[in-house]
Amino acid sequence: MEFSQQFSTSPKSEAERAAILADPGFGDYFTDHTVVIDWTVDAAGEGGWHDARVEPYGPIMMDPAAAVLHYGQEIFEGLKAYRHADSSVWTFRPEANAARFNKSAVRLALPELPEEDFIESLRQIVAADRAWVPSGDGEALYLRPFMIATEAFLGVRPSREVSYRVIASPAGNYFGGELKPVSIWLSERYARAGHGGTGEAKCGGNYAASLAAQIEAEQHGCKQVLFLDPTNDHAVDELGGMNVFFVLADGTVVTPELNGNILHGVTRSSVLQLARDRGLVVEERKFTIAEWRERVADGTLAEVFACGTAAVITPIGELKTAVDTLVTPTAQGEPVWKGIREQLLGIQTGTMEDTHGWLTRLA
Ligand code: COI
Repeated sequence: MEFSQQFSTSPKSEAERAAILADPGFGDYFTDHTVVIDWTVDAAGEGGWHDARVEPYGPIMMDPAAAVLHYGQEIFEGLKAYRHADSSVWTFRPEANAARFNKSAVRLALPELPEEDFIESLRQIVAADRAWVPSGDGEALYLRPFMIATEAFLGVRPSREVSYRVIASPAGNYFGGELKPVSIWLSERYARAGHGGTGEAKCGGNYAASLAAQIEAEQHGCKQVLFLDPTNDHAVDELGGMNVFFVLADGTVVTPELNGNILHGVTRSSVLQLARDRGLVVEERKFTIAEWRERVADGTLAEVFACGTAAVITPIGELKTAVDTLVTPTAQGEPVWKGIREQLLGIQTGTMEDTHGWLTRLA
């Protein structure tokens, strides 16, 4: 697909950009451009993508009746662009994000976008906003592809007009400041997903549904919320915005199995692979809150960590619940999460060998 280009006439000044890149935080600042591709259904009922373009970043003009504003027909992705020492820019397993995006699209009755167009859209935004790719430790340009239903109508049916877009935001630590163990709150009042629902789709509604629980978490001094599956022995599901892992005292790495409720995290699958490469036993299975309590009590739980594109790998120091606090023990020696985090970031930033061929050059 050919992209037309309209460059921003009012990009942020070099000084403004430098100030932002000095302390990017997460998700607060946006680059100068956006990528857009439209999709419409023609008179014969055939849908098609057209008018791929790079535009100046700015507000979206939309009819107030647009379906996304009423029924939340929306999906998104998150991936990062990393600056290597020679200033080339790379991304990590974009074909996995493209595949997940299309899986989410099918679930939300949105059109699929060919993988090559998804990846080319990332190349286009990085080409336009290359100066925005940070080079600091643990920093990257967070890319946020998304798709919204823009047709103006109030009947509940799939939209016949859709807009695919990419925005970009320089990113440091998701939780702000230095990397340190976070406290998480156990939500028992709310569930994130139900069987047959949209749990494994990356759609805005899942995240909207996590917010009331996230408020509860913050009221208890926690950074994130953990959801359980009340219909499955209170199995650990995932956090509000990331997957969760456990390392047992014997070194076994455990993460909840992909059971339809859980997001198919690209970082999740990479962590599993890097753990296997280290010769660790890896289990994708049900991990209940009862097992968590038992393992804390008998000393067989060594580590808990969260992972996602935004969070990379962040250790979880404790789980607070309405009745108790499950404290993760202090690691003896180098924790598993730390070694895997360093290797993952090393591969992504080009300082360690990419043995699995996970990197794709964008610029
Ligand atoms: C990501 O890790 O990329 C996410 O999408 C999590 C969150 C920022 C929504």
